[in-house]
Amino acid sequence: MSDAGQGIGRRGVLAAGGAAAAVGLTACGSSGSSTTSSSAEGAGAGAGGTSVKTADVPVGGGVIEAGAKIVVTQPTEGTFKAFSAVCTHQHCLVSGVTSTINCSCHNSQFSLTDGSPVAGPARTPLPSKTVTVSGDTLTVS
Ligand code: FES
Repeated sequence: MSDAGQGIGRRGVLAAGGAAAAVGLTACGSSGSSTTSSSAEGAGAGAGGTSVKTADVPVGGGVIEAGAKIVVTQPTEGTFKAFSAVCTHQHCLVSGVTSTINCSCHNSQFSLTDGSPVAGPARTPLPSKTVTVSGDTLTVS
């Protein structure tokens, strides 16, 4: 248990440094504007990212944030992944997470670990997102 805690703590520190660097770069490049949006994907996550509590992401499963069109998974304890929740088959929103990320439109299933298609008609992985861990909060961008 203490090992997992240390792992998350270390990532939290690294993530915080990365976030600070990103803010610094944005501030330098946006001529003083406080607007930080630079999303070209239009996925709805926004520049600030979408926050999810680590406790809301089950080990060996995941949660769908439909509004932001993302799915966050925890394939193994303390390892968090995030992907676009838009199915790569015909663009339905994925509908559930069990031991796979599932799209009910035509029953495609994707890996919790890397978003790769494991069953159904989809042939392309779900695009991965960046997960930043800070304490008990995940930020997906
Ligand atoms: S749109 Fe997801 S399986 Fe067809």
